[in-house]
Amino acid sequence: MASSIAVCRLNMRGRLSKCFKKVDSCFQRKFGTNTTATKTDAPNKKYKIDSKDRNKSFYTVQEEKIEQAERSVLISCPAKTNEKKFLNYLSRHGDINKCFFYESYGTYAVVEFSNKESLTSLHEGTAIPSINHEATVPFKSRLLSLRNAGPVDMSNGQSAPQCQPQTTIHINDLIQRLSKEDSIDQQISSLTETYQLTEENVCLRFLVCSLLKDIAAAYFPECTIRPFGSSVNGFGKLGCDLDMFLDLDGISGRNLKRPKAGLSLEYQTKRSASERAGTQSILSVIGECVDQFGPGCVGVQKILQARCPLVRFAHQPSGFQCDLTANNRVAMKSSELLYLYGGLDRRVRCLVFSVRCWARAHSITSSISGAWISNFSLTVMVLFFLQRRTIPILPTLDHLKELAGPLDKSVIEGNDCTFVSDFTKIRLQDNTETLEQLLQEFFEFYGTFAFNCMSINIRKGREQNKPEVSPLHIQNPFEPALNVSKNVNGTQLERFVALCRESAWMLQQREFNVPHRGSGTGNNAPWGLAALLMPSVSQVAGVKSRKKRKREPASERIKGLLESLKNREVKS
Ligand code: GTP
Ligand code: MG
Repeated sequence: MASSIAVCRLNMRGRLSKCFKKVDSCFQRKFGTNTTATKTDAPNKKYKIDSKDRNKSFYTVQEEKIEQAERSVLISCPAKTNEKKFLNYLSRHGDINKCFFYESYGTYAVVEFSNKESLTSLHEGTAIPSINHEATVPFKSRLLSLRNAGPVDMSNGQSAPQCQPQTTIHINDLIQRLSKEDSIDQQISSLTETYQLTEENVCLRFLVCSLLKDIAAAYFPECTIRPFGSSVNGFGKLGCDLDMFLDLDGISGRNLKRPKAGLSLEYQTKRSASERAGTQSILSVIGECVDQFGPGCVGVQKILQARCPLVRFAHQPSGFQCDLTANNRVAMKSSELLYLYGGLDRRVRCLVFSVRCWARAHSITSSISGAWISNFSLTVMVLFFLQRRTIPILPTLDHLKELAGPLDKSVIEGNDCTFVSDFTKIRLQDNTETLEQLLQEFFEFYGTFAFNCMSINIRKGREQNKPEVSPLHIQNPFEPALNVSKNVNGTQLERFVALCRESAWMLQQREFNVPHRGSGTGNNAPWGLAALLMPSVSQVAGVKSRKKRKREPASERIKGLLESLKNREVKS
């Protein structure tokens, strides 16, 4: 009897005290019900810009996904929920477009209705929980709990839904997987396939933004919260953080033309000392609201004195580590630019994923900020390298600006951020280099780059004299006076260069650049990209061994790898 199943709003306090330990969420999902109410997509669809969204502009995709998210709800379900009964129960509120399950501190379902009106009906039939000894704040969000007061058997004799994990695999498993491939090109493609965000994961990211928007709407009903950074730029890895931008630009009345004569009304508003001060106070109150009333939002920190003020928290039901910023339009533009570059040629994303994974495996990058190279800087370095090929794979930012139409014009805080948004206007040159060649050449390029005197500039697509003394200088594409890698110190740059040289050397050696088949045990010795991801002995030894490694490219790591290859050959 469906009437005994109730959807309750998640108790906001129940879980707040639990520590949020896991950043990478463990997603699981199930597809393929026969219910007429559901149109589920093919399983484990990967988020590829070059699939159906290939020619859609960044903002078209954003608007579509924001609109989908506004029709969606996130429901915590008992582990053994019967999907068919669940969907039949929900379909009383309207047709369901899409539904998927995942696991993160319990089982959750993302349910997308065909029409937004269904949510009104769903809200009308949803109760506020009453909990003994605890008080709940009656804030009505779209994060709900499925309750079964009986006697409906929600498991219907089934065990937990057969689910597919959607989290990143451990680096050791990745190395094993890549070692089984037949070519370095296949290894690079396989790594990209394994790491990239799934379409469901992207939907969930937009849904979390939409849930947050409902909180911010208490102050600014017409605001939008948009994801940016690797959640949407095409370079996101499962488990990456969720960068969000509170967009107040769309608030109506901003661009309303006042009559030249006669009466008119305008809002009285509070003034703040500067735009930065205004951003800080907006984030402060919204951060407070998220902390006090945001279901599932834990560990809220207001980091308002940073160069870019933000509110950081963990969204427990999705497993995302979230950064909420405001007034951060340049970062949105950077995300759009990366999205465009990543969609132009499939080799771009493949190379970025491989280089980012290689850098992470050797602690060249880190999930915490410090004096090391950031993922963003590393991505810009790959784009620059691809502009510098004899036949360039990517056009310069100046060229993209030349192709821009009137609607593409964008000036943010005095900086010209104009570039074309329409993929079809961009003509690419006929470069046929393989991924293997590009990876090899990437390491050679940066292993010998004149970092001491040259700056990396993707606007011009060529290196330029360094305007300042920072060890690594990468000109900010949209704020030319800024260096995006100002934080990087000499030691970190030196480590990067040494690893580039070592990796370039390894890829030239026959021991490493052809597959090594095992003795039938199914375990193949790491070779090619897999060998490049093996932990470095010198890294464990620390800074002291660095000088030695410079003189001796065949480091302990390489010796160790060669030794393991020899042993395997003897065994087989
Ligand atoms: P992840 O490491 O996967 O999170 O990559 P990310 O690209 O999301 O990087 P991060 O979360 O550090 O930053 C989010 C976005 O902010 C980036 O994609 C850029 O658009 C922007 N950003 C980050 N660092 C800088 C910087 O130093 N300068 C500028 N201009 N933008 C930056
Ligand atoms: Mg990020």
